[in-house]
Amino acid sequence: MRIVLCVTGASGIDYALAIARELAQQHAETHCVVTENAKLVMKYEAPAALREFKRICARVYGEKQIDAPIASGSFRADALIVCPCSMKTLSAIANGFAYNLVARAADVALKEGDARKIVLVPREMPWSVVAFENALKLARLGVVIAPASPGFYDKPKSVADLTNFVAGRVLAAAGVENALYPRWSKKPEKPNKVRK
Ligand SMILES: Cc1cc2nc3c(=O)[nH]c(=O)nc-3n(C[C@H](O)[C@H](O)[C@H](O)COP(=O)(O)O)c2cc1C
Repeated sequence: MRIVLCVTGASGIDYALAIARELAQQHAETHCVVTENAKLVMKYEAPAALREFKRICARVYGEKQIDAPIASGSFRADALIVCPCSMKTLSAIANGFAYNLVARAADVALKEGDARKIVLVPREMPWSVVAFENALKLARLGVVIAPASPGFYDKPKSVADLTNFVAGRVLAAAGVENALYPRWSKKPEKPNKVRK
């Protein structure tokens, strides 16, 4: 299994780390791109993240490495995940503005007819109409828009539970089976009594 994992400068670097760790567990060949702004966000959120990506991914590219194999249509991958995805990168992909390796790799997947293999994990709050229009444009092409929205119905006990929930759902959307997130089973701990 070959996955392209792009990490951009939105909040949520830990989601990408959880995804990379699971892919490593599954012996996937992960090609990781880390943007300059993702490196900046890492300084605030996860200072050791870049070292960890380099340790567990097959390749780690900088955003300016536009001659990397993943920039070419002849490179075949099972999925391209952008997590977390900044509003800027969402816009670049939606508008075909292939100014860096992330936008170029996504542009290539779109031109090769692989829109359904692209999973974007935008993180922003609130959203502008511009962001909605960019996401809608891509969703109409078949791109999976999977906002970083952890669920609370399984009573998470830690931040790691919440992180794994998102990472697991993103991987599932990319076609990678995993056990990182709880499956919904309709069994509340104490069922409410139904009044007659
Ligand atoms: C600490 C920090 C957190 C940020 N969080 C977000 C975010 O959650 N969503 C977002 O769209 N941009 C966020 N930004 C702004 C982006 O980093 C900025 O738009 C940048 O140009 C994105 O570049 P990239 O997509 O090339 O990585 C954040 C910036 C910093 C410094």
